[in-house]
Amino acid sequence: MTGRKSFGEELEAADDAPVARETSPSLATLWQRRLARRDVLRGFGKGALLASVSPAILSLAACGEEPEARPDAIFGFEQVPSGIDETHHIAADHNADILIRWGDPIAKDTPAFDVNDQSASSQLARFGYNNDFIGFVPLPYGSAASGRGLLCVHHEYTNDDLMYPDYPAGDPRTFYTREIVEISMAAHGGTIVEVARGEDGRWRTVTDSPYNRRLTPLSTAMGISGPAAGHDRMKTNEDPTGTIVTGTFNNCAGGITPWGTWLMSEENINFYFMGENADEREAANHKRMGVPGSRSYPWGYFHRRFDISREPREPNRYGWVVEVDPLDPDSTPVKRTALGRFKHEGCENTKTTDGRLAVYMGDDQAFEYLYKFVTAGKISADRAANMSLLDEGTLYVARFEEDGSGTWMPLVHGENGLDATNGFASQADVVIEARRAADILGATPLDRPEDVQPNEATGRVYVALTNSKEREQTDAVNPRAGNLWGQIVELVPEGGDHGATAFAWTMLVKCGDPRFPAIGAEWNPDLGPDQWFACPDNMAVDPSGRLWVATDQGSGWNAASGAADGLYALATTGDKRGLARRIFRAPVGAEICGPCFTPDGSTLFLAVQHPGADGTKNFKGFGRSSTFADPATRWPDFEPGMPPRPSILAITAKNGGPVGG
Ligand code: FEO
Ligand code: CA
Ligand code: CA
Repeated sequence: MTGRKSFGEELEAADDAPVARETSPSLATLWQRRLARRDVLRGFGKGALLASVSPAILSLAACGEEPEARPDAIFGFEQVPSGIDETHHIAADHNADILIRWGDPIAKDTPAFDVNDQSASSQLARFGYNNDFIGFVPLPYGSAASGRGLLCVHHEYTNDDLMYPDYPAGDPRTFYTREIVEISMAAHGGTIVEVARGEDGRWRTVTDSPYNRRLTPLSTAMGISGPAAGHDRMKTNEDPTGTIVTGTFNNCAGGITPWGTWLMSEENINFYFMGENADEREAANHKRMGVPGSRSYPWGYFHRRFDISREPREPNRYGWVVEVDPLDPDSTPVKRTALGRFKHEGCENTKTTDGRLAVYMGDDQAFEYLYKFVTAGKISADRAANMSLLDEGTLYVARFEEDGSGTWMPLVHGENGLDATNGFASQADVVIEARRAADILGATPLDRPEDVQPNEATGRVYVALTNSKEREQTDAVNPRAGNLWGQIVELVPEGGDHGATAFAWTMLVKCGDPRFPAIGAEWNPDLGPDQWFACPDNMAVDPSGRLWVATDQGSGWNAASGAADGLYALATTGDKRGLARRIFRAPVGAEICGPCFTPDGSTLFLAVQHPGADGTKNFKGFGRSSTFADPATRWPDFEPGMPPRPSILAITAKNGGPVGG
């Protein structure tokens, strides 16, 4: 790595580039070519939907009756204007308090953070870097408490160039020592921290809580369960059983299950592996996952398992969903391999009509797929009985038809070509190479699927396709070439059942500036000139059923919108469908992640990731890449010598009511 581009910019560039599918018959590509460039569901609201789709689709759509519009509840706040500067902005009549920052202690008796005196052992007792997903588990468990709970937070990656005072401007290879690498490893993974709201209305972390815990790729033993557990392709020198692995990394969006466990996705895992692959059996697999990364973290110099010339199967132990029980600090997290291995963005989940769990998952890279896992068993009232529920079920991948219908296709060994003729000897092979299996089924390549958010109130599901600069061939669900702005697709499961294998889909919005026809944006016609956004990423639904969308334009912010990322309420029903309003604006260089509401909606926890990092060359008045000594912003501390710090904010309404009015 060099100081010229932040690591986030490197990752982002990699997301943009599709992986070649040399091992598949490329049915997906053939199918994509067959699609006419046609948007069948251009309009907004039920009228337009009814006017433009086939009777088959109408019967699907009718399963989810158009929910009641809530005109007054959609936007109970005044919009923050678009723009970009060094700090954050929150809508009037709201407070945005910094709750916890990179380096803040989460363990008793840990001294205040000193950026000039970092160590791996110290970082293990502190909040990690680049906060992404936030989950809230109310305390006591089973309550709907909105004043006390556990925050479960992902730390997706580290911007090493903004973390260390002596990070060099030139080639950093001689800079890295084992200790520096291990500090960065300790700043990855996740944090469980108890938080409580005081009588003064402010949220604080409870630093001596017995629940507080760091989970890192340096320190945390994790089990492996499901179809790939114990398979030869999961075995390494460190773990000849193929059932135990140290840690998790590049955890992006995520989910909380109905039984209060935390699902940690593993996304861009390829960037942690280096070296020449030493196992021919894994060559196609590694290529399909982009292993090794084009420019990887230097962990493999000090921890040999990240060097695939020595441990060519170690990458097979990442790219999964990890289930963690935040209520038991002694519990061992488990990688649930039944949910497949790819670049998992998130794990938002909901119940099927018959009481099973459906987990929706994006694979965030250009031309990758949308997945769903449905458990075989039903959710039990007995919490302990749910702890292995995610080990058995069916993994599906989505195919979108141009007429607005869609199918969830099962990734099951022995079916539809997923057999020995295509190199799949068992279900273990299918889940380890889920991408290649999905290629064979003819899944629909999408414009970088990020978070997938079911709305419990309406039964509908929202898919954030963030952007795809590389797209040339278009189709109905990926309708724009050179797509800098992204789109949000709405799914209606057949019969309103998340267990169904058929769905109807329509476009909720095509993002970007609606004033320029060449961009091809589509919003509600009443959208104001300052109310649109680009590059949807993380999403949440608040207790009143409103959809909230966080954006991540990365270093392309200047071309996508010319303004900072933010958090937006987005109406999905009634005559306001397709209207958006900005409640929060990020400081320069940051993306917004983890929108998470307390059960009563009175607090919104929001993650500001990589402040000062992305695209600062285009920040007027600054015009260069940030460094530790010379960052584009020192948010949120604004203290000399302190670099920008990824942080979580607690947002509340001044009147004590729901955030967003
Ligand atoms: Fe980590 Fe797909 O954003
Ligand atoms: Ca994301
Ligand atoms: Ca993103």
